[in-house]
Amino acid sequence: MTRLFVNVDHVATIREARKTVEPDPLLAAQIAESAGADGITVHLREDRRHIQDHDVERIRSAIKIPLNLEMAPVEEMVQIAIKTRPYQVSLVPEKRQEVTTEGGLDLSSQIEFLIQMKERLTSSGIRFSLFVDPDSSQIEAAGRVGADSIELNTGVYSELKVGADMEAALEKIRQSSKQAVELGLRVFAGHGLTQENVQAIAAVPEIEELNIGHHIVSRAVFIGMDAAVKEMIHSIKEFSVLEVR
Ligand code: PXP
Repeated sequence: MTRLFVNVDHVATIREARKTVEPDPLLAAQIAESAGADGITVHLREDRRHIQDHDVERIRSAIKIPLNLEMAPVEEMVQIAIKTRPYQVSLVPEKRQEVTTEGGLDLSSQIEFLIQMKERLTSSGIRFSLFVDPDSSQIEAAGRVGADSIELNTGVYSELKVGADMEAALEKIRQSSKQAVELGLRVFAGHGLTQENVQAIAAVPEIEELNIGHHIVSRAVFIGMDAAVKEMIHSIKEFSVLEVR
């Protein structure tokens, strides 16, 4: 089945609204783990607007499932990753003013730089993933970097409600997934996924793993974290076509 990595950033967003100690994203990660999540994702942003350095360390050492650390491709973050040793690093572009990640990385302009970063991270035993738009030139560049995997940005698809544009966005995701697998890249996806729109993505055979945060945390406000994770797993399971890998 397609794996679910639960992003707990927005539990920390609520905590940081008051600069207090609750709600604790570690507790959310532990509940997600016991509810059946395959991994936990956190985004340590340069402005530390939600997840803090100590959250990464605490979550890394307390959970048994893999931790995926999203971060900007900058030296400060590379050093934190090498020190903390998450299971995987996913590089994402970051702008201070954005509300959330707005698009994938522009890989072609920084291939050599990314190859060096990949070598430093993978030689520390960390898997190396790149967040990219479903665009053939970016997938091709991810292959040249020699990443372990890509995470396809589902943001554009997720913002479309129904109709031809949505089908076209989905088709780009399907084509990019095929292209990536042919280049030897594993394929993950995420951004803006909900119970309503996850199914078409879970049905793409090449997509192994989904990163989902905002919708799960939003649902958790009303039904609790355990139930929110379980209902997302249920939605994914219904449409997942992946054999166990
Ligand atoms: N993948 C990446 C690279 C992201 O930056 C985010 C948001 O932090 C997500 C997935 C999860 O998106 P959402 O919170 O909309 O589910």
